[in-house]
Order: sequence, then C-alpha cells, then structure tokens
Amino acid sequence: MANMYNEAIRPKKELILCEDGTNTLYSKEFDEPYHSTKDGALHESLEKHVKPALSIKNKHNTLTILDICFGLGYNTFATLYYIKKNKLKTKIHILSPEFDEELVRSLEHFDFPPEFETIKPMIHAVAQNLYYEDEQFKIEILLGDARESTPKIKEKIDIVYQDAFSPVHNPLLWTKEHFSDIRVICKEDAILTTYSSAAAIRLGLYENGFFIFVHRAELMRYSTVASLKMLENFEYIDMELKKVRNPTARSMRDKDYL
Ligand SMILES: C[S@@+](CC[C@H](N)C(=O)[O-])C[C@H]1O[C@@H](n2cnc3c(N)ncnc32)[C@H](O)[C@@H]1O
Repeated sequence: MANMYNEAIRPKKELILCEDGTNTLYSKEFDEPYHSTKDGALHESLEKHVKPALSIKNKHNTLTILDICFGLGYNTFATLYYIKKNKLKTKIHILSPEFDEELVRSLEHFDFPPEFETIKPMIHAVAQNLYYEDEQFKIEILLGDARESTPKIKEKIDIVYQDAFSPVHNPLLWTKEHFSDIRVICKEDAILTTYSSAAAIRLGLYENGFFIFVHRAELMRYSTVASLKMLENFEYIDMELKKVRNPTARSMRDKDYL
C-alpha cells in the first residue's frame, strides 16, 4: 500500500520516518517536512494539539474545530483516535482547509500508524469524499486556499489547530490578517494551538485579542496555546513585557508577502 502511495506522490513529496515511528512526508514544494521528524507525526499531533485542546475544553458536549491545514490529516485523525480511545461522548465537527486535493485523495494508501486502525473507515471516506459523518463525528475538507475559505466559514469555532508550514515557507498563513479572519469566526472562549513559539506569531495572535501561554509536554519542544479567555494551569506570557524587552519584534503582515 505504501508503495502505491509513493508512486502517486513521488515527484513532489518524499516519505520519511519520524523518531516516534510514524510516517510523514517531506514537501519539495515547501522545502519542509509535514511534521517535526524529531517530535514525530502522531506524537506531535497528540501532544501539541489534541491533548491540550481537549483538556481545556473537557466540559463541552460539542466542539467545532478548525484544522489549518489538513495535510496528512494527523491532527484530525488523532482527535478521533483520542476521543474513541478515551470513550468520550463529545460530538466533534472538524472543518479543515486544504488546497492539495491529490494529497488528501492519496491518504487512502498512506501508511498510518496502528493507532489509526479503528478509524480506517473514516480515513477512507475522507480520502474518497473529502467528507465523513456519523452520529458523533463530522469532517469536512474545505478544498482551496485557506485564506479564502476561512472567512466564509459560518460555524463558530471552539478550537483552532494552527499547523501550516513554517512562517518562513508559508507566511500568509501566519499573518495578523490571517489571525484576524480566524478571530472573527471564533467563539468568545476559543483556543488555538500551534507548534510555533516565535515572537512574531505570538504577537499576531495577541494583537487579535488572544492571551498567550507556553505549552510544555514530555519529549517535545515547547509550543503555544493561545486563548480568548484567561486559562488556569498554563504558563501565561505577558506580551506587553515581551514587547518592552524585544522592541523590534513585529507581527507578520499580508502586505509584506503579497
Ligand atoms: C504542515 S502541513 C499540515 C499538516 C497537517 N496538519 C497534518 O497533521 O498532517 C501544511 C499543509 O498546508 C497546505 N497548504 C499550504 N498553504 C495552503 C493554503 N494557502 N490553503 C490551503 N492549504 C494550504 C499544504 O498543502 C499542506 O498540506
């Protein structure tokens, strides 16, 4: 199966094995792996996104998640895996922008970790239909440019997984304006998780009303949780103090990349 996958994506992507034993891809177009090979694709999804997000939102019966961007779907699939494994009853609706349709359709043949065995029918449905729905889960791939699809979302978002390629290689998905589009569709207590801990990214979120927190997990570089409400049990970063200490730091702006 993995070989069929390789045939389909060979010109633009390379399969790589991460240190946690799970597979990811290297994008030749973006000159970057889809996941931190050191942190590991599944480990990174669970520790940087799924676990912190679902622990903060553990009182909610329904959650709407914006997964930017779908890629190999690890964040979406790890969410389903985590909910099923822990027998949670939370109803989940995931909206995920992605412009690489060929990649999503090829996931039917991707060599995912054994943890995803129980959700295989969902992976197949997403790859075939770009959509999945049952009584508990709904997954929608929003095909096209995330900067165009995000402002059109009608649902109010509880959780954002901000997991684009790096600010250096994909700057338009890290600007103050992009975070503003996200802010508009967020609920008043929404949170955002991201692997980036860069000052420019944290500033872009802060300038859109997010409080900023450090997230630490085992065997993992630290990452960021941003929240529209103050959070207990997370290490708060005083961004006004950061600005004083780092007066040249600026958020990223669309005009510099368009
Ligand atoms: C780092 S990968 C996402 C990894 C993914 N979250 C996962 O868990 O597998 C970034 C993805 O963003 C997609 N992408 C880049 N720019 C985009 C844009 N402007 N609109 C939609 N998708 C975009 C790429 O095709 C790629 O699949």
